Parts: sequence; C-alpha cells; structure tokens
Amino acid sequence: MTSAWTQASVPAMLAAALALGAAAVSAHAESAGEKLYKQNCAACHAIQKDAPIGMGPNLAGVIGREAGKMEGFPYSDEFKGALAGQKWTAELMDKWLEQPQKVAKGTYMMYQQSDPAVRQAIIEYLQTVK
Ligand code: HEC
Repeated sequence: MTSAWTQASVPAMLAAALALGAAAVSAHAESAGEKLYKQNCAACHAIQKDAPIGMGPNLAGVIGREAGKMEGFPYSDEFKGALAGQKWTAELMDKWLEQPQKVAKGTYMMYQQSDPAVRQAIIEYLQTVK
C-alpha cells in the first residue's frame, strides 16, 4: 500500500517541479522592448555595463545621462554640437530615434525608426537598464 502511494506521488511532484520551472523561465523572458532593442540597436550599441565600445556608445543607463558623455567614445563633432549639455529624456530619445539626422545633422548614427510603437517599446526598455 505504502509503495503504491509513493509511486503515485512521484509524477505529481514532478509536475509541480516542472510548473515551478516554467514560472521561473517566464519571469526572465524578454520584454517586447528588449527584443526590439536586440533587433534594432544591439549591432551597434552594447548595453551591458563595462562592455567594450561598439560602433556606437554603450547605452547602459543612457536615459537621464547627459548626451555625449560615454568615456572613450569618439562622438562626431555634429553630435556634440547639436546635443552638448542636453540630457537624454524619453522625449528627446523619441525624436532622436525617429530621425537622428534631424536632431544632429551629420551624426554618425545611421538608423531611423518611423514606427512610434517600436520607439516607445525600446525607450521603455532603455529606462529599465541602469
Ligand atoms: C548602424 C549603427 C547604429 C544603430 C543600428 C543604432 N545606433 Fe545609436 N549611435 C550610433 C553611433 C555611431 C552613434 C554616435 C553618433 C555620433 O557620434 O554622431 C550613436 C549614438 C546614439 C546615442 C547617443 C548616446 C550618448 O552617449 O549620448 C543614443 C542614445 C543612441 N545612439 C541610441 C540608439 C538606439 C536606442 C538604437 C536602436 C533603436 C540605435 N541607437 C541604433 C550607431 C547606431
């Protein structure tokens, strides 16, 4: 009798363990913004703190940071001229991602995103990365 009870409870315990595992996985799932960041920005911008400089400056903690302040990154004169002294707010970032060439004519950043929902999701993700 005891052994029959034990056998029946093993699958139940396994099922419980699997359910817990699934919950842990989904808690770490990528947000839509993180996915879009990887597709749109990661080729040029590292976002891990202290990662090596890519084609563009590291973007860890960029929201709230002053533009052009990543140490060691050779910003273009056009970028520095247009953005010196400005802070990256969500609003400025939205304008920047829509058309960098409009914010800083001649900037090295060759990218633009016309979909406001995509920009919004990426900005929300950037706000979470410190
Ligand atoms: C093809 C490469 C490329 C892609 C793709 C790209 N960038 Fe950039 N980005 C750059 C370069 C190069 C600069 C430096 C611009 C300069 O110096 O004129 C830059 C600068 C920036 C800056 C200024 C950072 C600072 O330190 O002030 C931000 C913010 C930024 N990019 C955000 C993004 C985001 C967000 C995406 C994705 C939606 C993106 N970029 C996609 C190349 C890229």
